[in-house]
Amino acid sequence: MPDLTTHYLGLSLGNPLIAGSSGLSASAEGVERLAEAGAGAVVLKSVFEEEIALEYQAIVRDALRAGGNPEALDYLDRQLRGERLDRYRALIAESKRRVDIPVIASVHCTYSHEWVTFAREMEAAGADALELNMFFLPTDWSRTADEQEQAYLRVIERVRDEVSIPVALKISHYFTSLGPMIQRLSQTGVAGLVLFNRLWQPDFDIERLQVVPSRALSTPAEITLSLRWVALTAGRAACDLAASTGVHDGEGAIKMLLAGARAVQVVSALYLHGVSHLRAMLIDLARWMDDHGYETIDEFRGLLSQAASANPAIYERVQYMRFFGPTLEGQAGDVPPHGLEGPPR
Ligand SMILES: Cc1cc2nc3c(=O)[nH]c(=O)nc-3n(C[C@H](O)[C@H](O)[C@H](O)COP(=O)(O)O)c2cc1C
Repeated sequence: MPDLTTHYLGLSLGNPLIAGSSGLSASAEGVERLAEAGAGAVVLKSVFEEEIALEYQAIVRDALRAGGNPEALDYLDRQLRGERLDRYRALIAESKRRVDIPVIASVHCTYSHEWVTFAREMEAAGADALELNMFFLPTDWSRTADEQEQAYLRVIERVRDEVSIPVALKISHYFTSLGPMIQRLSQTGVAGLVLFNRLWQPDFDIERLQVVPSRALSTPAEITLSLRWVALTAGRAACDLAASTGVHDGEGAIKMLLAGARAVQVVSALYLHGVSHLRAMLIDLARWMDDHGYETIDEFRGLLSQAASANPAIYERVQYMRFFGPTLEGQAGDVPPHGLEGPPR
């Protein structure tokens, strides 16, 4: 049996498969099931500051409709916040009691001071690490890319200064200049970056003329975006990388490790096939390592990253230059040997 251990965020993991943040890790029972199924670590369902605010607004709205005095509800915001944080603290503490794998808390806030408050609470409750689930939809039309990026950097700086447990940052790919931004984020003192979150997207129902949610779960075909960016970033980031989105089987996990990830997060595959799928993925990973003569993950991690690649230009190719016919012949190999020219300067 090959050695599947890995280090991520300074934590020792029995294997690189992390059950990512989702409803499956919203209860201590769920966390225990994931640990029993073989997860190397678990990221808890995020606590959302926005959800507390929405709950508060709904109560205030109902109270106003009923003719109540809004000032009498001033205390409620704090109370709701306290209750929600109490429940999350209990989830961390109970999960820690039940499992002996690392438990990573996850936070999503709107205001920077709240990120700090929530982070402190997670640390005090005994979380082994903290994942900042950070995304601000760039729809403020007056805000520049630089201002948007500063918002991320400000939050990280404040949280980093307040907690001593390792902090990971889970981001989306919505940045104007993604490569340099990933590198910059990796240099902020975070212990890890999770590439990428898969966000809720609206879709249309053209019969009922309604906006409806799109597919909540990923497909295996969605692996390629994260795979490319893990491969491009490995060796250039100043922190650990974890992969997320589209990893549905052992093969997907192996690809992410070859790209340079230290850990691989899985969610949709566990909804689709049950949490026992983690075990099947680990068996496939171990079998592949055996077949290829690898005893440890470090022996092959990053072998297909851009930094280690014999043909680094292949990662920078974005156009289907030769796909002009009815067949898809000649898919690979049409990258110029000296790489592609960058954009005009
Ligand atoms: C039902 C569901 C709930 C999720 N909840 C969260 C969450 O609370 N916080 C978070 O950071 N990501 C959340 N995610 C995103 C996942 O952690 C993950 O990044 C995404 O599903 C892509 O990975 P996958 O392809 O393995 O599903 C959720 C995903 C699903 C499907």
